[in-house]
Amino acid sequence: MAKIYIPYGSVEGQTAQIAEYIAERVRAHGHQAETADLKHSKHTLPGGYDGVIVAASVHMGKHEGFVTDFVKKNRGELDRLPSALVSVSLAVRGDEQSAEGYVEKFEEETGWRPAHVGLFAGALLYTQYNFLKRQLMKKITKDEGSLDLDTTRDYVYTEWDGVQRFTDDFLAGLAAPAG
Ligand SMILES: Cc1cc2nc3c(=O)[nH]c(=O)nc-3n(C[C@H](O)[C@H](O)[C@H](O)COP(=O)(O)O)c2cc1C
Repeated sequence: MAKIYIPYGSVEGQTAQIAEYIAERVRAHGHQAETADLKHSKHTLPGGYDGVIVAASVHMGKHEGFVTDFVKKNRGELDRLPSALVSVSLAVRGDEQSAEGYVEKFEEETGWRPAHVGLFAGALLYTQYNFLKRQLMKKITKDEGSLDLDTTRDYVYTEWDGVQRFTDDFLAGLAAPAG
C-alpha cells in the first residue's frame, strides 16, 4: 500500500474538488491519500509519503502564488519522490497552447519539472463569483464565442474520466520498477 499526498491550491473550489476526487480514486485502489489545502499555510511536505500530486488552478495567467511558494520550498522532496502536477484552467478547453504555457511558466518559476503533468478543465462558477468577477468571466466567455453565458448557473467542464485515468497512470508508475 502506498501513501499519496495531494496538496492543492484552489480559489473558487473546483481544484479542491478535483483533489478530493483524486484522493478517492487512490483509496479505491487500496492506497492511502491525504489532501491538503495550501491556501494561507506555510506548508512543509510531511514525511512518510510515497508520492505527491500537486494540484493548482490558473487565474490571470498564473497558478496560485502560494502553490508556487510551496513547490519552491519543497523542491528537494518533490524531486526525490514520484510526483505530478495537475493544472486546472479554462484554456485547456480550446487553447491548449496557453494551458501548456501556464505550466511552462510555473516550471520556470519553481524549477520543478514533474514527470507527470495533467491539464484539466475547471469550471465557470458564476453563482459563486462576486458581481465584478461574474461580469468579467461572462465577457471573456462571450469573447471566446461560447454560449455558456447564463450567470444564474454554473458550468463544470472537468472531465472526470480523464482525471481518473491520470490517477490510475500515476499509481501504475509507482508500482513499476524504477529505470
Ligand atoms: C478571475 C478569474 C480569472 C481566470 N483566469 C484564467 C486564465 O487566465 N486562464 C485560464 O485558462 N483560466 C482562467 N480562469 C478559469 C479558472 O482557471 C477556472 O475557473 C478554474 O476552475 C478555477 O479553479 P478553482 O475553482 O480551483 O480556483 C479564471 C477564472 C477566474 C474566476
